[in-house]
Amino acid sequence: MAEQNPTSPVRPAFQLELQDLDLVDNALATQNKETTPVHSLEIGTRPTPFGAGGPIRLASQASTPPRSVVGIGGKVAKPDYSEAKIVLAMVGLPARGKSYLSNKLMRYLQWLEYDVKVFNVGQLRRSRAKQKKEQSGVKEDHTASYFSHNNVEATRLRDALAEDSLEMLINWLKAGGNVGIHDATNSTRARRAKIEARVAKEKGIVVIFLESVCDDPAIIAANVALKVSSGDPDYKDTSPEDAKRDFIRRIKEYEAVYETITEPHLSYLRITNVGNQATACRIHGYLQSRIAFYLMNLHLKPRSIFFSRHGESQFNVEGKIGGDSPLSERGLRYASALPDLIKDNIGDAPLTVWTSTLQRTIQTGQHLSYTKLTWKSLDELDAGVCDGMTYEEIEQAYPEDFANRDEDKFNYRYRGGESYRDVVIRLEPVIMELERQDNILIIGHQAILRCLYAYFHNLPQADLPYIKIPLHTVIKLTPKAYGCDEERYTLPIGAVDTHRPKPKAPQPEVKAYSGREYYDGNA
Ligand code: F6P
Repeated sequence: MAEQNPTSPVRPAFQLELQDLDLVDNALATQNKETTPVHSLEIGTRPTPFGAGGPIRLASQASTPPRSVVGIGGKVAKPDYSEAKIVLAMVGLPARGKSYLSNKLMRYLQWLEYDVKVFNVGQLRRSRAKQKKEQSGVKEDHTASYFSHNNVEATRLRDALAEDSLEMLINWLKAGGNVGIHDATNSTRARRAKIEARVAKEKGIVVIFLESVCDDPAIIAANVALKVSSGDPDYKDTSPEDAKRDFIRRIKEYEAVYETITEPHLSYLRITNVGNQATACRIHGYLQSRIAFYLMNLHLKPRSIFFSRHGESQFNVEGKIGGDSPLSERGLRYASALPDLIKDNIGDAPLTVWTSTLQRTIQTGQHLSYTKLTWKSLDELDAGVCDGMTYEEIEQAYPEDFANRDEDKFNYRYRGGESYRDVVIRLEPVIMELERQDNILIIGHQAILRCLYAYFHNLPQADLPYIKIPLHTVIKLTPKAYGCDEERYTLPIGAVDTHRPKPKAPQPEVKAYSGREYYDGNA
C-alpha cells in the first residue's frame, strides 16, 4: 500500500493571508457551509458501507484481532490489548485540524477500550514557561516570532519540548498505554526522522505519522476562529483581533519550512480536508487499519443525528425484557406522531432511518417516508436465558447473576446472551458508518442507544449502562468541533419507565460538552 513518492517537498497549496481575516470572522458560521465529502482513497475505492458490501480492509497483511471475550453468565474480562503500542505522531500546519482528528480518534478508541492519551506539545510549552516564570521571573515570548525557524534559540527549545513530550509518551506506553498521540506540528523531515529513530529503539512500539492537510479556506478559517475563540491559553490576555493576527503570522512561520510527508519508508496516513481524501502508506495489522479506516470516514459536513427508542412495546408494558413484541396502543400513537416531529426539525432535508430487525423498531418507523435500512447490529442487547422475563423473575431464578449485574453492569454477560461490552463491539461498524453519513435517525433500543450515546458524549464506561434514554423521546445530537450539542423532544404520549437505576448509587450526571479541552500540564 504505497503511494507515489515525489522527491521534492510539496508546499501547502493554500496559505492564509492577513487580509483573509474576514474569512476567520465568519468562520464559525461558515463551518456550516456545505462541503461535499468525497472520501476518495488513493489506495482503493470509496469505502463500501458496512451492512451493504461489508467492511474494506486497508492492510494487505493478515489482521490480528484481539482475543475475543470469554465466559458466560458472569463478569467478562476486557479483551487483552496489551500488545498494541502505537505512537501516532501528528503532522501538519497550525489550524489544519490536527487536534480535531486527535480528539475524535481518542474518543473512538477509548470507547473501544483502548488506553489512549494525547501528548500536546503546546501544553507542555505553556506549562514549562509558567514554571520558568515562577522560578526566575522571566516571561517567555510565545508570539509568532517564537515559532520562526530564524529564531535559533526558540527552535532549539521547541525541538527539546517535542523530544521531552515523546519521552513522556513512550514511558506512558511502556506503563501499559496503547496509543499515544504526539500532538505537535512535526512538520519537517528532520523532526520526523528524530521521532522515527527514537521509537525504533523501543521493542514492540511502532510509529505512524498522521498528516492533516487542509486547503479549504473555509475550514482553515474556521479552525483559526476556533483557536482564538475557544479560550486557548496562548491568547488568554490578547484581544481577538490581535490573537487572529498573531496566529496567522505563526502559521506563516511554519509554512516557510513545512515539508509534507514524502519519506517512502515511513508508516503514515495523510488526511485531506478531514476525510475528503486519504492516503495510507505502510499501514499494517488490525489496530492500524482500524485507525486508518475510522479517519477516512470522518467529515465536517453539518448534520444531525437523531436517536429514538421504539414506541412503547407490549413487553415494556408487562415489564419484560428482550423479545420481539409489537407496539402497545400508546407505542403505535408515538409511531404516528414521529413523522411530524422529525419534519418540524429538519424540514425537507434528506434523512435516512435506521432500525433494528425487531418489529417494535420497524413499526415505529412505519409512517416515516425516508429511506430506511434495517441493521441486525442494532438489535437489543441479547438477554440470553433471561429473554422474556421481568427483572423480578430474573432475581428469583438467578439471584447471583442478578446481583453480579447490579455490581458491574458493563462487564456482566447474560447466560447465553450479551454484555454491554459485547454490544459496543458489535456496534463498531455502526459507528463507522454513522461517521460517514449525513442526517440519520436511529430507531433503536435502550441498551443500544446508551452505547451510541456514550460514544458521542465520551461518557465513562461505568456510567454507560445507566444513561437515561426514555421512551417517546427524540434525542437530537449536533456534532461540533470538540463534541456534540444536544436537544431532547418528548412527545406527550405516556409510556412506562423502563429505566432501572443502579441500586444504592446516585444516577450519574451526564455532562454534554462540545468545547475544546486543553490537556493538563503533564501532557
Ligand atoms: O426494558 C427494555 C429493554 O430494552 C430490554 O429489552 C433490555 O434487556 C433492557 O431494556 C436493557 O436495559 P438494562 O441493561 O438496563 O437492563
